[in-house]
Amino acid sequence: MNKIKKAVLPVAGLGTRFLPASKATPKEMLPIIDKPLVQYAVEEAIEIGIEEIIFITSPSKYSIKKHFDFNQVIDNKLRNSGKDMLAELANPNIFGEIDFKYINQDEQKGLGHAILLAKDYIQDEPFAILLPDDLFFSDISCLSQLTSIYKETGNSVIAVNKIDPHNIHKYGVIDPGKVEGNYMEINNIIEKPSRVEAPSDIAVCGRYILNSTIFEFLEKTHADGSDEIQLTDAIKSMLSKEKILAAMYHGEKFDCGSKKGFVEATIAISLRDNDLKDDIKSYIQNINEVNSKDN
Ligand code: G1P
Repeated sequence: MNKIKKAVLPVAGLGTRFLPASKATPKEMLPIIDKPLVQYAVEEAIEIGIEEIIFITSPSKYSIKKHFDFNQVIDNKLRNSGKDMLAELANPNIFGEIDFKYINQDEQKGLGHAILLAKDYIQDEPFAILLPDDLFFSDISCLSQLTSIYKETGNSVIAVNKIDPHNIHKYGVIDPGKVEGNYMEINNIIEKPSRVEAPSDIAVCGRYILNSTIFEFLEKTHADGSDEIQLTDAIKSMLSKEKILAAMYHGEKFDCGSKKGFVEATIAISLRDNDLKDDIKSYIQNINEVNSKDN
């Protein structure tokens, strides 16, 4: 079976929900504490052995490329003053082993359109997709959970989780079929259905491992009512040709494309940080006390 060596990270979106912060800084570069959101996804990809990371980006997001390029000036300054640990934080050694590629998405034509742009780089290999807005924390990473299933079955596999029916219209939603251990077959999938149309409360979260067959179907997928080519629609058509699996993600998940998720992720990570957690815990305790006195 083919090893998964390539990952696609779509990062071309405007990030309007984070204006004005996202005006001159890509939303993917906004930090959760001290690390840009996009780096969490890149580290998750590297952890499963990805060798090539393909960003679908836009010219205004050049700081993403700068972030993953080696910065010689910073490296010299830090190493010359004996701050080797900081130098490693600025230029992690492992980034030097990764082939970072950048493709511009000139039009905002949806996730499916973004993924199709990576076709020539992926060719006929299986590949991972990571949507950096979705941040996952678990002992075994979300992508690693998918990789085990891909290795076992050779089928494309998508991470899913249960969603409150009030929010189901924000996601791709699956109609689940036969359950086999820690994965299930997908009978059907619908992009952003209304609550009544939703075939279940099981929604796609932002990690996928797909066989390259998807490109055949992306090429045939028409834009929807909002003039976007949906990856979900291509996956739905691909079901006519091959089995696609869904894996229930086990662990914490934050939707950092929303302000609520972003703040929650910031709190969750600060509570894991040895230097910060005690101060943040007592801060939260203090606000709780003040609030309960006020009420
Ligand atoms: C995209 C996908 C959707 C998926 C979601 C997960 O939607 O189109 O199927 O459920 O990511 O975050 P977006 O959030 O880009 O609107």
